[in-house]
Amino acid sequence: MAVALIVAAGRGERLGSGSPKALVTLLGRPMLHWSVDSLRSVGTVTQIVVALPDGHLDGAPEGTIGVVGGATRSESVRAALATADAADVVIVHDAARPLASPELFERAIAELERSGCDAVIAAVRVADTIKEVADDGRTVRATLERSRLWAVQTPQVFRRTALERALAAPAAVLAAATDDAWLIERTGGVVRVTESDQANIKVTSPTDLRVAELLLAERVAGGAVAPGGAVAPGGAVAPGGAVAPGGAVAPGGAVAPGGAVPPGGAVAPGGAGR
Ligand code: C5P
Repeated sequence: MAVALIVAAGRGERLGSGSPKALVTLLGRPMLHWSVDSLRSVGTVTQIVVALPDGHLDGAPEGTIGVVGGATRSESVRAALATADAADVVIVHDAARPLASPELFERAIAELERSGCDAVIAAVRVADTIKEVADDGRTVRATLERSRLWAVQTPQVFRRTALERALAAPAAVLAAATDDAWLIERTGGVVRVTESDQANIKVTSPTDLRVAELLLAERVAGGAVAPGGAVAPGGAVAPGGAVAPGGAVAPGGAVAPGGAVPPGGAVAPGGAGR
């Protein structure tokens, strides 16, 4: 059995939406709901705890438990873990990665069980050549051996005892952690990677939001999107058409810049509804 912790307590200022990033609408639903849906399809997950910003506990989807997050990401993980039921396996996932599939969660859990290690983390092989620069921030000091480099994502799956030990660190150490696996590494634990995919993007910028919307639309449609078309939440495809932010479909048609679809759906060339 496993409990899942979704950290969603970031303010997401780089997105410039004015509301917490995890609650920003993505293809018609709050971003957080897409991760919750995936986790609900994972048979071994018995409970989902969501860390949210203070004042936003009502953003916890039905059937999940909302807790107030901390000042840093790892403090949010610690707050969620303190509320979670007893279970040997703990999944930690960023709400900012709405495209993590049920299969990815299942693969990470299976690898933890198979290997007997302390943590398994989703990661992708690095495609770019990575260089390290000197203290001046510009002069190249080294070219890293690419075959050994992986870009790390979430989900990250842990043995509960190892995660509890790792999170019992001073606030300054937790603040320095950009992922929880590093906290395991620094306490001597064994961490393994499981291969993820490039589509499991982290939504940080408005561009990421649009890319995520496109990828989710494809998934909702079961991978079959009409050429030139997009998909409404629930899977309806607008043949040759597009979908307004928020999900409204113009039958057969386009969407006015800014996303407004007039009743009846027709949008005049150039974007104004008629
Ligand atoms: O800021 P960043 O995108 O790195 O955050 C990664 C994840 O951690 C996001 O899902 C965010 O909501 C969460 N987070 C949190 N508590 C914080 C900071 C970030 O739950 N104090």
